[in-house]
This record gives sequence, C-alpha cells and structure tokens, in this order.
Amino acid sequence: MSESPTANQTVVTDQNQGTPLQLFRNKMHRELGKTVIGQHHIIDAMVAALLVSGHILLEGPPGTAKTLLGNAFAKAIGGTFKRIQFSPDLLPSDVTGTITFRGNELAFRPGPIFANIVLADEINRTPPKTQSSLLEVMQEGQITVDGTTHVLEKPFLVIATQNPIEFEGTYSLPEAQLDRFLIKAVLTYPLPNEEFAVLKQPKEGLKTTSINDINPVVTFEEIFSLQKLIEQVTVTDEVVNYIVSLVNGTRNLPSVSLGASTRSAVHLMQVSKAFAAMSGRTYVTPDDIINIAPAVLSHRLVLTPEAELDRFDSVKAINAVIQSTPIPK
Ligand SMILES: Nc1ncnc2c1ncn2[C@@H]1O[C@H](COP(=O)(O)OP(=O)(O)OP(=O)(O)O)[C@@H](O)[C@H]1O
Ligand SMILES: [Mg+2]
Repeated sequence: MSESPTANQTVVTDQNQGTPLQLFRNKMHRELGKTVIGQHHIIDAMVAALLVSGHILLEGPPGTAKTLLGNAFAKAIGGTFKRIQFSPDLLPSDVTGTITFRGNELAFRPGPIFANIVLADEINRTPPKTQSSLLEVMQEGQITVDGTTHVLEKPFLVIATQNPIEFEGTYSLPEAQLDRFLIKAVLTYPLPNEEFAVLKQPKEGLKTTSINDINPVVTFEEIFSLQKLIEQVTVTDEVVNYIVSLVNGTRNLPSVSLGASTRSAVHLMQVSKAFAAMSGRTYVTPDDIINIAPAVLSHRLVLTPEAELDRFDSVKAINAVIQSTPIPK
C-alpha cells in the first residue's frame, strides 16, 4: 500500500457535518459508493484533481473498476463521459477531432476529448505522437485546428490509465509527459470482504446495474465555487520551504537521475491544499505534504539503472527524502 498514501485518509463518517468541501467529498464517496466498493483513496485523488483542475494517472491491473470509477464520477458531477481506448493505430485526430464536410462546408467535428470526464484507457499503448496530442490538450484545455481554437468545457478531468504489468508493445510515457499528471493513484485488488460485496451487487448478466442509481450531487457552478475555496487555503512560508526542500532533496539523491520538477512542487502544494480543505482545514500542515508527496512525485522521478537493479523504487526514494528533511514545527 506504500504507493497509495491517500488510502490512509479515512472518510468522515458524519455525512452531514462539516465545511462545504468536506460535504462535497462525503457526497462523492456516498454516491460513488453505490456502485464502486472500496477504492476510497482513488475517489479522494479524483476529487482533489477536480478541485484543482488537474489530471490523474491511474495505474492498476485489469478489471479493478477503473472504467466504472470514471463513468460513475462523471455521473456524480453531472458531466459528460467519454472513454478513449488508446491503441497502436490511434491518430491524434481520433482524440482531438477532425475537419469534415458537413453538407458543402468544411466543419470541425469534435473528438472524444470533448467531454467533462475523459477516460484515456491504456495511454502507453499508443505511439508518442498521439500521446502528446492528448497531453497537450490536457494542459491547454483547448485545441487549435486549422487556425480556429476550440475551448473545452469545464470542468475537464482526464483519467489516464496504464497497466503496470505489460511492457511488450507499449510506449512508455516520456518523463516530460508524466510530469503533467497531478497525481498517480495506484489501484490495488479489493479486500476479500469488498470483493464479496461486489459479488452481492445487483447485476444484469455481467453488467453492474447499480451505476444507474448514480445521480449528480453538485452543479458545475458549485464545483467552480468549491475550486475558489481551495485558493483560499493558506500555506505558511515554513511549509512552502518544506516543499522546496523535499523537491530539492529528490534532485540530490545518488539513486535518482531525474528529480522532481518545479511543476511538481506547484502540483504538490495545490494537491495539499485540496486535501487540507477536504479534511475541513483552511491551512496546509506538513503532514498533508508527507501524506500526499509519494502520489504526487513518484511518477516523475527517474532512478539510476543501479538503483533499479537494487529494487529501489521512487516511493522509497521519496520516503528517504522525507526521512532526512527536517519537518517544520
Ligand atoms: N471496486 C469495485 N466495486 C464494484 N465493482 C467492481 C469493483 N472492481 C471491479 N468491479 C466489477 O468488475 C467489472 C469490471 O470493472 P471495470 O471495467 O471498471 O475494470 P477496469 O479496471 O476498467 O478493467 P480494464 O483494465 O480491463 O479496462 C465492473 O463492471 C464491476 O462489475
Ligand atoms: Mg477499463
């Protein structure tokens, strides 16, 4: 579980008490819980990403509710949902859209990226050109085709998945691309009692029917005002310095050949604000940073070949930096 640090953060049990952000988090857990059993840390990561307009990389074995989570999340925020299966022959225009004839006129036909929640399934199965077209849209929130800019509707959340088991026939995402993901959340198999609950759910053949019970729990306007509340969360200079020290620490480890970027420091601060607010606080503590640092930083580090051979991994590297960096009082 060391790769899923957010798993430790428990869901507030009193569903009706708390700040607007706590209430929103609880509502999302309750609504998604109608169809998704467990995986609370993934739901938290998705909520945090939505609140700071970031995007998520989901890593996990097949059949562990990645698609179900994306679908259910979109329904719970009342947004549109599209799933793009990334394959070796997928073209950038299959993601972003194409110019086609409509009657006698040329018109832009938007691709599947035009949705509030986009599940980019198995992004490491597509060549770099298509990967980078996705990553570009993720960052810009708009597409320029033939001189015309098409802006994507907000909220906009990309959930990209990659399967950690298969490497054959895959195109690893370059570090610069990985750096654009706010969080990497790692899905693990459910506990036996959770798997029991999955089997007890209503089904129509193999299909989970409880997805139909999911209703929107917020409006977009409410989401935008929750996003504004995150901006009001304060971070003291000591805590900002702590982030700087941690990020710097990853750059100076002998086992690491590429440390965390400045962008990652920005991401770490923003995600910490979201988690602080989701726990009902208006300020970030060093513990917020410690809890979330592995999920925010681990996918950005590149280890030396020697360290890889020693089975050292990026989460261990981040934990080593946390151990050796003084925590502000
Ligand atoms: N945590 C869970 N809660 C409820 N149902 C689950 C859970 N995990 C798996 N399932 C069941 O497994 C089915 C498959 O899940 P889903 O299609 O979302 O997997 P996936 O992770 O997207 O798989 P793949 O990587 O193969 O695309 C769901 O429809 C559901 O019946
Ligand atoms: Mg799937």
